[in-house]
Order: sequence, then C-alpha cells, then structure tokens
Amino acid sequence: MPKKNMVIFASGRGSNAVALHDAVAAGTINADIKGLVCDIPGAAVMDRAREWGVPVILADRKKFASKQEFEQFILDQIAPFQADVICLAGFMRLLSSDFISQYEHKILNIHPALLPSFRGLHAQRQAVEAGVKIAGCTVHFVVPDMDAGPIIIQAAVPVLDGDTEDTLAARILEKEHPSYVQAAALFCDDKLIVNGNIVSVKKD
Ligand code: GRF
Repeated sequence: MPKKNMVIFASGRGSNAVALHDAVAAGTINADIKGLVCDIPGAAVMDRAREWGVPVILADRKKFASKQEFEQFILDQIAPFQADVICLAGFMRLLSSDFISQYEHKILNIHPALLPSFRGLHAQRQAVEAGVKIAGCTVHFVVPDMDAGPIIIQAAVPVLDGDTEDTLAARILEKEHPSYVQAAALFCDDKLIVNGNIVSVKKD
C-alpha cells in the first residue's frame, strides 16, 4: 500500500509530534511526514521538525487580519503536500468548518481527556476538579464542534489521591503517545471505517 502523506499541526513542545515521527521512522505508521505547520513563533516543535529535515510552515495568527486569511495561508502552503492525513498534535487553534470540509475525515486530533467529558482547554484540570477517578486521552476525527468528532481510540489512567493538573497530565501523556501512534497507523493502513459518529476497525 502506498504511504500516506502526513502533515502535522502543532503549537508547543511537540511530544506527540515526536511520537508520530518516531513511529513513521520505525515503519509502524505507513506514512511520510511532508510538513509541519506551527502557529507559535519559537515553539520547540519547529526545532524537532528541522532536525528531521521536515519543511516547517510558521503561520503566526497575529500576522493575519482574519482567521480566514490565516487558514487560507495554511491551505495554500500545505496544498503541495497533498495531505492524506493531518494530525493535530497540541495545535491550540480551532479550525473552521470551511477548512475541515477540505480534509473531511482526514484530520485527527488528540485530546487529554476521555471525551465526551472535559472538552476544551485544561482538560486535566477539569478532570481533577470534577473528582473523577478515571481519566485518559482520546484520538478522534476533527469536526467543526470542538473535541466532538468520531472517536478512534481512548486510553484510561487512574486519578490518584493528591493529583494535580500537572501530575495527572504527565500520567495521561504517557498514554497519548502510543494511542496516537496506534490511531494514525490504523488510519494510514486504511483500517478505519467511519459511520456517523461510530468508528470501527476493519478486520483482516
Ligand atoms: C497534549 O496533552 C495533547 O493532548 C493536547 O496538547 C498537549 C500537547 O503536548 N492537545 P505536546 O506538544 O504533544 O507535547
């Protein structure tokens, strides 16, 4: 099966981007990483991508008069990559429905909560404050509603007495990396079937 063209969008330190890259390099994910889009000048993830020799596109939102121009810039920049899959890996901006419709069911995101609980920012803090005993992460397809798309994979961790946002986030992050790799690998092997809100995995 030909390799999928992957583009990663990220805003920060990039540990999920690194996990995806390492799995691509190891052949676990059947893809080539064609580019990295980052919206934050100086973000560490851009250094990682340069180390890999992956083209970096900096789209600094502050440089654009509107969200539409910002997104059009990104669309124009990534067009040559002919992306089969876009992986949002800590990309801290909501994409518009116009953007998403151009890559329908081709955009994946990882969220540090067991969706549909705790959408949005500070998901781990929301979990601690709600007093839940199980938390985790979710890899899902992106739809215009935030953190609401069809769920591909989830992984759970316990919430322990005395956990803070940071200690819980660290425990969840350990599950994020293998979960994202597994979900992206299934996608790139054409193993995912999306039926409305339900994602199933094709049997061999
Ligand atoms: C992760 O917790 C991810 O779930 C969330 O943002 C964080 C990004 O971390 N969307 P990193 O940049 O991948 O290390």
